[in-house]
Amino acid sequence: MPEIDSSRLKIEPFGSHHNRGSFTCGVESLDCYFKTQAKQDVKRKINGVFVLVDLHAPTEVIGYYTLCATALAHGDVPLIIRKHFPRYPLVSATLVGRLAVLECLQKRGFGALLLADAVKRAYASASVIGSSMLIVDALSDKAAAFYEANGFVRLPDASLRLILPMHSIANLLVL
Ligand SMILES: CC(C)(COP(=O)(O)OP(=O)(O)OC[C@H]1O[C@@H](n2cnc3c(N)ncnc32)[C@H](O)[C@@H]1OP(=O)(O)O)[C@@H](O)C(=O)NCCC(=O)NCCS
Repeated sequence: MPEIDSSRLKIEPFGSHHNRGSFTCGVESLDCYFKTQAKQDVKRKINGVFVLVDLHAPTEVIGYYTLCATALAHGDVPLIIRKHFPRYPLVSATLVGRLAVLECLQKRGFGALLLADAVKRAYASASVIGSSMLIVDALSDKAAAFYEANGFVRLPDASLRLILPMHSIANLLVL
């Protein structure tokens, strides 16, 4: 695989000019989503889908992530952060529904780059449409460890759900 110069990388909204057919990250459901569903989701505004490309091959997707609005019942807000929230019946949040990097380009920092962009984008849009935290439901322990290494907090229950409260993001990001 040729070296990728990080100054040529760009994260942009997924569009019809991006090549969907050959994406493989090693998890079939994430490949299948990108190949068959992502375009429709963008069209219907069900998910925001963002892709990482190399400007020398701008139609080839290195990785992608999705974002959508969600809400948690107050009782489902993790205890570790519940004290920060008013007792509204529903608490707004942003779900990082999917995140994947081409299998042949994993472990080079592209996942962390995509996740940092997702966090930045979610944080910026939370000042327009409120969102109290980012949520991710990791697909495996290994994926959960990846999110943890990138600032997300694992819940004290045995689930693979991790969160990143918006109020703690300002400290993580130089915006
Ligand atoms: C999870 C996933 C998105 C991470 O993407 P990635 O590009 O491999 O992630 P990164 O390179 O940023 O970080 C992964 C590891 O590579 C290491 N790494 C980063 N850059 C590196 C480099 N230049 N050289 C060696 N290792 C490096 C990181 O330290 C990290 O190590 P860790 O696994 O011990 O924590 C990717 O593995 C993937 O697509 N997996 C399949 C789909 C999936 O499980 N998605 C998550 C759904 S919840």
